[in-house]
Amino acid sequence: PTRRQTAPGLRARKGGEPIVMLTSYHAHTAAMIDRHCDAILVGDSLGNVMHGFETTVPVTLDMMILHGRAVMRGSRQALVVVDMPFGCYEASKEEAFHAAARLLKETGCGAVKLEGGVRMAETVRFLCERGIPVMGHIGLTPQSINTLGSFRAQGRQADSWAPIENDARAIAEAGAFAVVIEAVAEPLARKITQEVAIPTIGIGASAACDGQVLVLEDMLGLSPKVPKFVRRYGNLGQAIEDAVTAFAADVRSRGFPAAEHVYGMEREG
Ligand code: KIV
Ligand code: NA
Repeated sequence: PTRRQTAPGLRARKGGEPIVMLTSYHAHTAAMIDRHCDAILVGDSLGNVMHGFETTVPVTLDMMILHGRAVMRGSRQALVVVDMPFGCYEASKEEAFHAAARLLKETGCGAVKLEGGVRMAETVRFLCERGIPVMGHIGLTPQSINTLGSFRAQGRQADSWAPIENDARAIAEAGAFAVVIEAVAEPLARKITQEVAIPTIGIGASAACDGQVLVLEDMLGLSPKVPKFVRRYGNLGQAIEDAVTAFAADVRSRGFPAAEHVYGMEREG
C-alpha cells in the first residue's frame, strides 16, 4: 500500500501547489476522494449532513470515531484529519489530549482539527508537543453558533481584522501544521496567508489561500441549502430523486425486477 501523506508533508507545501481537501464520512466516498486529493476531512459537519442536526453542537466523539474509521478503511494515500467535536476539548488541554488521542488510536487518522484561535493556542501547543498533529480552524467557527447568534462571514469591516489575524498567528506559533480559514473576507484571508508560516486552507476565504476545502455533499449538489462560497460540481440531489422516482414507478408497474434479476432453479442431475 502507498504511504500516506503526512501532516509535516502538507506543512512543507506552504506557498507551493495548492492543497486539495474534501470532507468524507464514509468508505466509498473516501476511496474516490483519496484518488484525487491530498487530505480528507472527517468534519463534524457530518452532524448536519449525515444525521440531520441543525448545528454541529450535538456531535459526539463516538460519532467522529465511527465515521473516522470508515474513512480510514476506504482510503490509503490521503492524510485523514478528524474534527474534534464540541465539548471534548475546550475545558482543558488535558481533556483535549485524551480526546485527540482517542481519535488517533481508535481511527488511525493522521491529524485532528479543532476550532478557535488565541483561546485554543495553549491547547494546540500541548497536543503538538505530545505527538498529535493539529489543524486549526479560524474565522467562522460553527461550533460557537450559540454565542455567535448566526453564521456570518467574518472580517468584512476593517476594524474587525485584528482579532482574526491574532487567531491565525497564535495557532501557527503554537505548532499547528495548517489552518482552515472559514468565511473570511478575501483581503484578510490574503493578508493572513502572507503572514503565517503554515498553509491556510480556505473555505469561503478566496483563492489567496494555500489550499481549499469544501463539504463533499455541498459541492455535489446533495445538500438542500449551501453557503455562497460553494461551487456546485454536480447535481446528485436531482439524480438520486430521479432514480428513486423511476424505481418506485417500476415496482408499482411490476416492471422491476425483470427476468435478468431473478433466480431460477438450479439444474438437477
Ligand atoms: O466540519 C467540516 O466539514 C469543516 C469544514 C467545513 C472545514 O470543518
Ligand atoms: Na468542522
